[in-house]
Amino acid sequence: MTKESAVYTAELEKLCFSAPWSEEILCETIEQSESEFFCAFVDGEFAGYAGMLCVLDEGQICNVAVCPPFRRMGVGEALMQAQRERGLARGLSIMFLEVRAGNTAAQRLYEKMGWEKVGVRRNYYSNPREDGVLYNLYLQ
Ligand SMILES: CC(C)(COP(=O)(O)OP(=O)(O)OC[C@H]1O[C@@H](n2cnc3c(N)ncnc32)[C@H](O)[C@@H]1OP(=O)(O)O)[C@@H](O)C(=O)NCCC(=O)NCCS
Repeated sequence: MTKESAVYTAELEKLCFSAPWSEEILCETIEQSESEFFCAFVDGEFAGYAGMLCVLDEGQICNVAVCPPFRRMGVGEALMQAQRERGLARGLSIMFLEVRAGNTAAQRLYEKMGWEKVGVRRNYYSNPREDGVLYNLYLQ
């Protein structure tokens, strides 16, 4: 991700999430060596992004989001595949994430990509309050 595409990413964050990352936070984060942030483009148009933060041999997917006109075209899958490949290249042994319990689309995506549901955090999310479902992907 470049600083230029952080502008589009921040707009998509606002559209999708109750606690969106700002352009400033995104720009600060992508400068850090532990971050892996990818954008997807379709015919040159910004279509979505996925972000991961890595510590030692673990990677946490912070967010993945696809712009509404580009959904159900395989963009989310391509972004998650790119993150998996970066995880392998960095020698990570595990990647993890959490997702709202009611977010069926994202959960189907993770399960299709081989992620394993490993638990639930009660009332993890606010605005609105909702459980968080935990997923792991084991790389080694
Ligand atoms: C979740 C999200 C990233 C999926 O992106 P996408 O580009 O539409 O997903 P893809 O087209 O790559 O779909 C891959 C698989 O995910 C699943 N999937 C995606 N959208 C789905 C939906 N609306 N309902 C059910 N399954 C869905 C399907 O298994 C799909 O495979 P298939 O097309 O062979 O059935 C997208 O819906 C989104 O941006 N949602 C809002 C942000 C969000 O909730 N992010 C996750 C927060 S943790």
